[in-house]
Amino acid sequence: MSGSNSGVTVTLTMDGMERTARLPLIPGTIGPSVADIRKMYGELGIFTFDPGYGGTAACDSKITYIDGDEGVLLHRGYPIEELAEHSTFLEVAYLLLNGDLPNAAENEEFHEGVTRHTMLHEQLRSFFNGFRRDAHPMAVLCGVVGAMSAFYHDSLDINDENHRRISAFRLIAKLPTIAAWAYKYSIGQPFIYPRNDLGYAENFLHMLNAVPAEPYHVNPILARAMDRILILHADHEQNASTSTVRLAGSTGANPFACIAAGIASLWGPAHGGANEAVLKMLAEIGHVSHIPDFIEKVKDKHSSVRLMGFGHRVYKNYDPRAKIMQRTCHEVLGELGIKGDPLLDLAAELEKIALHDEYFVSRKLYPNVDFYSGIILKAMGIPTSMFTALFAVARTVGWISQWKEMIEDPAQRIGRPRQVYTGSPRRGFVPIEARG
Ligand code: ACO
Repeated sequence: MSGSNSGVTVTLTMDGMERTARLPLIPGTIGPSVADIRKMYGELGIFTFDPGYGGTAACDSKITYIDGDEGVLLHRGYPIEELAEHSTFLEVAYLLLNGDLPNAAENEEFHEGVTRHTMLHEQLRSFFNGFRRDAHPMAVLCGVVGAMSAFYHDSLDINDENHRRISAFRLIAKLPTIAAWAYKYSIGQPFIYPRNDLGYAENFLHMLNAVPAEPYHVNPILARAMDRILILHADHEQNASTSTVRLAGSTGANPFACIAAGIASLWGPAHGGANEAVLKMLAEIGHVSHIPDFIEKVKDKHSSVRLMGFGHRVYKNYDPRAKIMQRTCHEVLGELGIKGDPLLDLAAELEKIALHDEYFVSRKLYPNVDFYSGIILKAMGIPTSMFTALFAVARTVGWISQWKEMIEDPAQRIGRPRQVYTGSPRRGFVPIEARG
């Protein structure tokens, strides 16, 4: 960690003991400062205990800032609302990777760089045939992205800046192709090759929906909606999958292996799998009249039912992305002529009730980005099983930016958390015949 000391210290004294540790305070540009505990073990002989890392900064980063209480999300200083409104996904990708928005020439060069890497090594095609047709697209994504390190040997040296750059291009460019092919494979349709005359989101929709038998025209409103969804999912600070990528990368593992690890982590229903889980939940509820019973189950501590698409580890306010997603949802449904969609009605009613119910209000549980994204994607004809894969396509940009930032930090070292051991104290081996 390269965070600079503010000169201010936090003093920690152990009750009943003379020993005191002075912990330097590291300020952020905005947001709370953090106490640097690296020397605490040496000085006091104790570690900190923070399961789930809710109170621990694992790194310093210049990429994304979240104020969970105020519902603020900034990428390199730019508010997500402005990026979603005025920017494109590839511009945001450039911003996350390089620190600033591209000028016209940089933008063109970056587009060209991504575009020239959209095709997969043809031998990777046969990889797909090894999966069962009913494999979840995330399983396919995880496997194929992991396998990329066996195909692109020329960009695996993590200490070579040019290798890192090419790997970033390859990952950003090929993820849509891999995700779309995972889908095509599952429905038994031929793979559609990327078209470099189309924009990033347009090309992705084309590879998902086109068939060789007839021309396919991508609706520009849907392409814009897809681009916005990708922007909204591009990065989100040190979430579970990003931390997984950083932890894997801290060992010196190659970027393809690290992103495969991120994909595996994203898959869980508490993280990227939530938008899929929202739709399953809405289908299970079935009708507005069943909402009160469902809410009772959610509140019952013995039921383990959660209101999917609600709550967030960091946001204790409206997720700013959820607001943009809600607007996009109405645009998409309007464009597609979907009026009075029962799922949307159900979602709106659920949101209304949850926002006023004491259980959710007192726990600061607000809708998160996934609450509406599932409904938009469903309306766009994207199958539910592809939702998390789509999230992975977008988040690859954040993962690779965070990985790059970590590798380029001279103070970077292997991530290795400690533990508080609560198992048996030392004991002698008991021969099997003497065990009760
Ligand atoms: N439904 C009902 N109760 C909830 C929910 C929910 N969705 N989320 C949290 N709670 C309750 C918990 O039961 C707990 O109540 P208690 O204090 O009475 O025990 C309290 O709120 C705090 O919950 P934690 O689990 O400690 O919160 P945590 O920060 O660990 O969890 C998480 C965050 C995993 C996102 C959680 O809110 C959740 O499971 N949400 C549903 C899944 C979801 O939508 N995930 C998407 C996250 S966004 C993303 O990945 C893009």
